[in-house]
Amino acid sequence: MPIEQVIATYDHGAAEYEAIMQRYWHVEREPFISTLNLQPGQTVLDAAVGTGLNLPAYPAGVQVTGIDLSEGMLQEARKKNIMADLTLKVANLENLDFADNSFDAAASGFTLCVVANPVRALQEILRVTKSNALIAILDYCKSQNPEVQKWQALIEDAALNIGFPTGKIKWNALMDYDKLIYQSNLAIEVVQDHRIESPNPFSCGCQFLLRNTKS
Ligand SMILES: C[S@@+](CC[C@H](N)C(=O)[O-])C[C@H]1O[C@@H](n2cnc3c(N)ncnc32)[C@H](O)[C@@H]1O
Repeated sequence: MPIEQVIATYDHGAAEYEAIMQRYWHVEREPFISTLNLQPGQTVLDAAVGTGLNLPAYPAGVQVTGIDLSEGMLQEARKKNIMADLTLKVANLENLDFADNSFDAAASGFTLCVVANPVRALQEILRVTKSNALIAILDYCKSQNPEVQKWQALIEDAALNIGFPTGKIKWNALMDYDKLIYQSNLAIEVVQDHRIESPNPFSCGCQFLLRNTKS
């Protein structure tokens, strides 16, 4: 999807985004963010922060930078009550203007299944985080259950065009995280790989904790 279309569709869907997530894909964000073991004074990149569903989970004293392409989504994020220090800015995750090694950690929820080039986006996260930084990822992905995989193979074309009920916001519900994480030769160590299986072929997910192993 061209960037202009991503911006337009998320601006359009920003106000209803959280109700849709609550109904179809509610995941508690505190346990997800707590895997980063953030300490006061540390910096963390939330990529792409969207309406800020992760934000209340960041502890006090941590400096959070949330980036997103959609100003409409960021406007919703500004309404959040949060304990951490927060900076929000419009930026493209595939081409960040932060210096190398800017962040102690990073988190990304339901985003790599949306960006045009997930490998490029993960490379950028690795570039702007420090060596040994922890990176928490929560997303949709292909199932590891052979029975569900059969259904997913049948719906593969449709899955690339799945959208919210508005019919506007699209994502790849069958992101191949085995390919992205294990076959991409990126400088990462997998600390945790937790798959969220579902009999619904559109609703399988994953939660990863990665360590940046660049030298
Ligand atoms: C499904 S939402 C996830 C939002 C939030 N992370 C969450 O967990 O709910 C995907 C977000 O990615 C943003 N996005 C898509 N492509 C992007 C890119 N290349 N750079 C930055 N943000 C992007 C969209 O604007 C949208 O806010």
